[in-house]
Order: sequence, then C-alpha cells, then structure tokens
Amino acid sequence: MRTLTGVDSACSVLAGGCDSPVRSGDSIGVPMFVQTRAEGAYAFDESGKRFVDYVMAYGPLLFGHTHPALVRGLDAVAADGLVWGSTHRHEVRLAERIRSHLPSMERIRFTTTGSEAVMSAVRSARAFTGRDLVLKFAGNYHGHFDVALLDAGASARTDGGSGSGIPESVKRDVAVARYNDLDSVDALLRGREARLAAILVEPVCGNMGWVAPVPGFLEGLRERCDHVGAVLVFDEVITWLRLGLHGAQGRIGVMPDLTTLGKVMGGGFPIAAFGGRAAIMAQLAPDGGVFTGGTHAGNPFCVAMAHRVLDVLEAHPEYYAQMEALARRLADGLRAILRKRGLPYAVVQDASVVDFKFRSGPPNRNYDDACNADRTAYAAYYNAMLERGILLPPSVNEVMFLSTAHTTEDVDETLTAAEASLEL
Ligand SMILES: Cc1ncc(COP(=O)(O)O)c(C=O)c1O
Repeated sequence: MRTLTGVDSACSVLAGGCDSPVRSGDSIGVPMFVQTRAEGAYAFDESGKRFVDYVMAYGPLLFGHTHPALVRGLDAVAADGLVWGSTHRHEVRLAERIRSHLPSMERIRFTTTGSEAVMSAVRSARAFTGRDLVLKFAGNYHGHFDVALLDAGASARTDGGSGSGIPESVKRDVAVARYNDLDSVDALLRGREARLAAILVEPVCGNMGWVAPVPGFLEGLRERCDHVGAVLVFDEVITWLRLGLHGAQGRIGVMPDLTTLGKVMGGGFPIAAFGGRAAIMAQLAPDGGVFTGGTHAGNPFCVAMAHRVLDVLEAHPEYYAQMEALARRLADGLRAILRKRGLPYAVVQDASVVDFKFRSGPPNRNYDDACNADRTAYAAYYNAMLERGILLPPSVNEVMFLSTAHTTEDVDETLTAAEASLEL
C-alpha cells in the first residue's frame, strides 16, 4: 500500500500536496494516491503495487500509458528541436488533418492546455459579437480561468464565493444555466439576449458524471445563438477522439461556431486547440485585435505527438469498436452486480467511458442530479476498490476511462473487485 512518506513530503512543498485539486482525494475524503510509474492499463504506487487504472490521467490516454506509437523514437523527434517559436509545416498539416475530421473548424490555433483553448474561444466570441455575456452550464468544466470556473463541475468546488479569487465584475457577465434545460436558458437570457456573446457547452458532458444531451437540447442552443447572433462554442476537450474522429458534433449533427480540443489529441503530451468559423477566427491578432498566443503553442514536439495519435486512429478505426465492447462488458457486469446487491444505481456507458453514481434513479441529467450522489458511499467503494488493485477517480464528478490497453482480464478483475467492494 501507499507509504505516508510520499504524501507527507508532497504536502510539505507542493501547495495542497498536488498540482490539480482532484488528485488530493479531498473531494471525497480519501487519502491521496501517490504514484511512481505507469504502463499500459496500469498505475503503480510507491510500494510497487499494480492498479488497473481507470483515471487514465482524466481522459487523454486513449491508448493507455506508454503506448509504443507514442513513446518510441522520441530522441529522433527531439533532435530537431523541442520548441521553435516559429510557424512550421507540421502544424499546418496537423490543422488540415483536424479540419478534415471537424469541418466546422475552418481556422485553427494551437494552445498548450484546454483551459487556454476555451479562454481564447470565449475572448474571440466576445470580440466578434462586441458583447460580454457568456452563458454556460452548471457542472460543465472548461478549465481554470475566471469565467469557466463559476459553478463548474469536475473537482472545481467554486460557487463564486469570495474566497475563490473570481472578481464580482466577472460574475456579472456570466449566466449559469441547467444542463439539458432550455427553459432555464430562456429564463436567464430574457431581457439580456442582445448582450449575449456566446453559449459555452460540453456537447456531451464528462464532468458531472457522463451526461448525454437530451434530444433537442443542443439544437435548441444552436437556434438561440442564431436567433440573437451569438456564438455557439462546443467544448470537445474530452469528447474529440474519445467519441471518434468526428467528435460529439459529428455524432449529434449540430455544428458549433467554435470548438475547443485537448486531452486525447496529444496522447498524453500537452497540446490543445480552438477554432471555427473563419470570420470569427479573423478576430485573432495579427488579423484582428484578439491576442492569444503562447511560448509552447504549436511546438513541433507536441505537434508530432498529435500526428502520431491521428496516425493510430486513422489506421485503426476498429479500436473504437474494441474499446466499446470492453466498456460494455464492464458496464453490463456492474449492472448485474448492482442488481444482485439491490442497489438502484444507473450505469452509463458511452464509447470507452463507464460511469455510475451512488444515487438512485435515472442517470445524471444535470448538476443538481450530480450533487445528489452519495460521496460517503463512493469514498468507501473507492477505498475498497483500491485495496483490491483498482484505481478509480477520487471524485463523484469524474468517470471511468478505458483505453486500448485495457483487456478483458482487466475488466473481469475489476468486476471481481466490484462484487466484493459493493458487499458493504
Ligand atoms: C471539457 C473540458 N474542457 C476543458 C478542460 C481544461 O483542460 P486542461 O486541463 O488541459 O486545461 C477540461 C479538463 O478537464 C475539460 O474536461
């Protein structure tokens, strides 16, 4: 098991003992998981114990850890230089490849993180419309900039209280609606339509459990944006490549004006992007007045890794069906165990994502549902699964991510552990 040494030494120098609050385990009151290495579908703690890893770094690792396509031959890539500070043909080609899968992204700019991508998309939308108001949804997570954090999901417990560091002036220009609820959108916009710059949404939400949009929800957002001349921004940082090469927008058939990407596109290396209609992206400097940029933006090393990710997925479309079959096996197995135990919890499975919450009733539809999950019961389950060598996300808002590295044996080991762990 974990030694306390790792936790103690982390807390004595890292703020809160971690670089991202979810990692602390604090949101459900479990000990922090201190990791030493990872391989394939597995994470290893300081004692060398192996865990089947369903955190998968919160999404990027569609091929698991250390996939040969991503870790092989890195010296040769690095030998050409890590960061150039110049435009290069590899990023032009990467943007073309992305656009071939997501035609709504007529123009693209690369960033390093998803947070920057969404922040830049919001600024571009505001500049394009000449308006300030942004409507977003409780329980969606878009990164750690001020606008995004209000009522955010994932591990951000920011209700906009005075200790959050988010200025009151920012809050005045953000409206937070209920996901899957167009009435709440209309109520918030009434009388303010002419101020609306953008609606920002996860088209399938992965940050309050896994929440699908109800039929008509995204279409309704599209109509409202068109009606008032606002920009519809789809945050596909989780969904692009997790759901397929055409993302949530390709699956659902609703096209946004701007899209943000990240996570899987770098396969574990930090690269993200935003883009969309050429007229909106023309707001960006040097063509327009919106400044976004970054020292590491579009660096050739991470661009090369993003090409490798697309190489694998374009060459192996069958990976999606394989991961889905495995995820279905896990979800079906969990459903059977829950039924046997008399626990009325819904198990959600979508592509390579599996999710269930300790909450009776249908799957989460919005953040109100997500907030009703029983954290104490989940914490007990988390600890029991950890004891049995299964690493789950230490938060009720996160989901289980599978990868091409997970096997039937891993899933069956997980189900055996779940069967015992749910005997609480
Ligand atoms: C949907 C979504 N958007 C944006 C972000 C922010 O991305 P990053 O952590 O790379 O800044 C995340 C991160 O979890 C996310 O889930």
